[in-house]
This record gives sequence, structure tokens and C-alpha cells, in this order.
Amino acid sequence: MTEATFESETVSALRAIVGEAGILTGEDTASYCEDWRKIYRGQVLAVIRPSATAEVAEAVRFCAERNIAVVPQGGNTGMVGGATPVAGKSQIVLSLARMNRARAIDAIDLTMVIEAGMTLRAARDAANEAGCLFPLSIASEGTAQIGGILATNAGGINTVRYGNARDLVLGLEVVLADGQVWNGLRRLRKDNTGYCLRQLFVGSEGTLGVITAAALKLYPRQDLVETVFCAVPSPEAALALFNRIQKSDPAALQSFEIISGNTLELVLRHIPGVVRPLPERASYYALIECAAPQGNSNLRQRLETGLQAAMTDGIIGDVAVAETEAQRRALWKLREDITEAQAMEGISIKNDVSVPVSATPEFIRQATAACEAAMPGVAVIAFGHMGDGNIHYNLMKPGDMSIEEFGRRGPDFTGIVNEVIRELDGSFSAEHGIGQLKTSMLAAWRVGAELDVMHRIKKALDPLNLLNPGKLFPAN
Ligand code: FAD
Ligand code: MLT
Ligand code: ZN
Repeated sequence: MTEATFESETVSALRAIVGEAGILTGEDTASYCEDWRKIYRGQVLAVIRPSATAEVAEAVRFCAERNIAVVPQGGNTGMVGGATPVAGKSQIVLSLARMNRARAIDAIDLTMVIEAGMTLRAARDAANEAGCLFPLSIASEGTAQIGGILATNAGGINTVRYGNARDLVLGLEVVLADGQVWNGLRRLRKDNTGYCLRQLFVGSEGTLGVITAAALKLYPRQDLVETVFCAVPSPEAALALFNRIQKSDPAALQSFEIISGNTLELVLRHIPGVVRPLPERASYYALIECAAPQGNSNLRQRLETGLQAAMTDGIIGDVAVAETEAQRRALWKLREDITEAQAMEGISIKNDVSVPVSATPEFIRQATAACEAAMPGVAVIAFGHMGDGNIHYNLMKPGDMSIEEFGRRGPDFTGIVNEVIRELDGSFSAEHGIGQLKTSMLAAWRVGAELDVMHRIKKALDPLNLLNPGKLFPAN
């Protein structure tokens, strides 16, 4: 069979499975083949957009029979090139975007069953309308989908209280590599019945199965919210503040983010309509949010008392307190638009790392000293989820260096940062995953029995290596 015949037969067969509205070819596939950061670009025979689990299963079975790789894709907001095809394979992108219905929401059980293609924002809105809270929140939530959130085990700004995506999933429906459907959509809080399969798929980045629906945990809605933006003199001071709030009001704290002074300046420079939150510039800022159910009337007072004491002790400087929802949104915009602002500023080396929470100041100090020594003039853009020990430690080039040279030296700098991480018992990938970007790092960090078990799991569930090849493990 010629290549052209193989292609046209494949497209016809997939069209028959998903219908005319569910298939894209040629130029129409372009946006599905390039990642958010525009680093990775691939090619596919087609993009399919099934509308039901049965269609996903039939398409995956067909691809397995024809030795065609399947790249599951959600909102394509991933930071590590996980959702776009690698070069040199016969493959399709399988987009879950049309599978975006809520199947059930139960405000007594505090659960919801939703399809993988629903955006995180739509899922949060659906929970909210039912009087509940789905707490996971990230800046890309208008586009990122529940399937992608689970496949990457996303973190975000409320992890300090509610955990990562992994902690919020009770059950899954998954199409396996041979087209079988595993219906594990149980909504149970307790269920000790052998291996916990759902957790195998969470964080597997599309390499073990296609998630088509999920049973998720909900929480009571937290209608009282207090948000403050504080100047802090150093990461050490930010850590001291975090410890105090965590001890004094552990049930209420839901976000504790750190933003370095130059990171805030980047946002103020590039994002239209944002306003400097405090009169004076500071070395660092902490963005803190506490929340509680209606009726917990002294939430504000408790937070203010804590901040007052921190101010007296020199741990914090100025503080901006959100008095309205609009002010709260404005404070969060300063944090949530950092990624956009950084993309507008130009090329950067991104490191999404974690250390034990207590070691975050030490990490920032050591990594900055090492990077500045290796590349004088480099700009360190450090921000992130300090309450989880997760720092986005990004580097931007010195003014007089060419983009090419900076790009060439990227891996060296990631190596320098990772060395500090290793000494502090941290991780080179906190919440963004491995994708294509970090396959060699995974092989270097997860050696011996741990890597061996990962390979065996992959082989057992996807013996033909057709699910998202070249992700997690290097392409062969
Ligand atoms: P995609 O990018 O489409 O896919 C990601 C991976 O999941 C790929 O490997 C893909 O193959 C796989 N996948 C997708 N859907 C499925 C499925 N249904 N079944 C099986 N595999 C699937 N991440 C954080 O953790 N915390 C943050 O705070 C955060 N903030 C962000 C802010 C911005 C502005 C941006 C652009 C990104 C941010 N991210 C963050 C990264 C990204 O949004 C998350 O990784 C998110 O979980 C990806 O979801 P997605 O639907 O876009 O997945
Ligand atoms: C964030 O917390 O804003 C993100 O994870 C995105 C990023 O690191 O750029
Ligand atoms: Zn993040």
C-alpha cells in the first residue's frame, strides 16, 4: 500500500467513526500540532474530536490495529510539549474538546462526574452553581480541560489546602490502548479493592490511556474570601509569614504565592490595565488567600491580627487588602498573568521545581548565586506556589546576549538549577510534568527499580507504544 493510500484509508475510516464534525485534516490540524510555548511542532494524519466514549474506544482500537500512534489532547496549555505529536510517526491527535458534559453533580455526596473535555473553569462553575466548590484553580483554567488536568496531575494556587489533581479524583473512565473501556467512575470515599488504578492514570500524561470522564471530589463552597498582597523583604520572611498563618489559621489558608520584585515589574510592563498594588517596590511579595464558609465571621479579623504582628516584627512591609471582588481579581491578575507577561518579554528557560517548603529560601538563594555566577546579567524570574515548596524559577537572557546563544546554554542552566534541587532533596518537575521537554531528566533522576517499574507499567498497558510516544520516555 502506498503512503497516500494508507493516509486516505485511515482518514476515511476515522471519519466513519467520529463523523464529519469530528475530524480535521491538512491545514486545519496546525494549531493542534504546536504547543503553547511554540517550542514543539509535529505532523498528524488527522485530528479527531470524538463526541462520546464509544467513539474514542473505536478510534483507539482502529489505530492499534493499524499501528498508528494516538496523542491525547485537552486544552493544549501544557508547558512541556506533552500534548503535541513528536516527529517521524504515523499518528493522530485525539482531542477531547467535544466531550464536555457534566454527567452528574451531587451536593450531598459532594461529587461530580464530568467528561474529560470540559474546561476546568466550566467544571468549577458547574460545581459553584450546585452550591459546591471544585477547588483546583490555575491561570489557564479557561482553556485547560479536566482530562489534561488529571493527566498532568496539575497543581495550581489552592494546592496548599486541597492538594493536587490527584487528591481530588475518586474515579475515572479510561479508554485503554487496545480500545477497551475501563469504567471506574466510582464515587466512593472508601474502596480498598486491589491496586488503585485511577492513580496510575493520573499524571501519566496520556501514555497509559485516554481519560474520557472523571468522578471528582467537591467541597462545601467557601463564600467568605480574604485576599492580601504583602511586600516582604526576602524569601526567608515570606516563609516565616507562611508558617505563622499556617499555624494560626490552618483551616482557612488556601493560597500562599510568592512573586519576586522583578517578576511583578514584568507584569506591570506588559499586561494592559494592571495597577501597581503597593506604593513602594519590594524585593518580594506574598499573595495570600484565606477562605471559609459563610458564618465564619472573624476570618478577616484573624488574618489582620496575624499581619499586624508580622508587620511589628519586620516580617512584612506594606499590605494591600482586597475590599471587593473586583479588587481581589485585580490582585490575582498580577499573579496569573505572569506567564503571559514572560512570553511577551521574550525567550526564557523555565524550571518548575519543588523542594521541601522549609528549603524554598535556601533554594532561591543558592540557585540565584549559581546562575548569576555562570551567566552575569541573567535575570531570574522567580515566583510560584511557595506554600507547596513549588517555585517557577525562570531565567531570561542578559541584554547583550543573542537568543541563539541563550537557547544553546539553556540545558546547562537547567543543570545548574537541578543540582541545587538535588542537594535540597527536591524535584525537577513539580507540577508541569515531563512531556517531551524532560524525558532525559526523568531517565537521569528516576533510576533503578523506580524507572524499571515505570517501563514495565508502560509495556503492560501499551505494549505497542502507541499512546503518546516520545512523552515521559524518550522516543526510540
Ligand atoms: P494538554 O496540554 O492538552 O495536555 C497535557 C498532557 O495531558 C499531555 O501529555 C496530553 O497528552 C495529556 N492529556 C490531555 N488530555 C488527556 C486525556 N483526556 N486523557 C489522557 N491524557 C490526556 N499547570 C499547573 O499544574 N499549575 C499551574 O498553576 C499552571 N498554570 C498555568 C498557567 C498558564 C497561563 C498556562 C498556559 C499553563 C499553566 N499550567 C499550569 C500548565 C497547564 O495548564 C496544565 O498542565 C494543565 O493541566 C494542562 O491541561 P490541558 O487540558 O491544556 O492539557
Ligand atoms: C503558574 O503557576 O503560573 C504556572 O504553573 C505557569 C508557569 O509556570 O508559567
Ligand atoms: Zn504553577
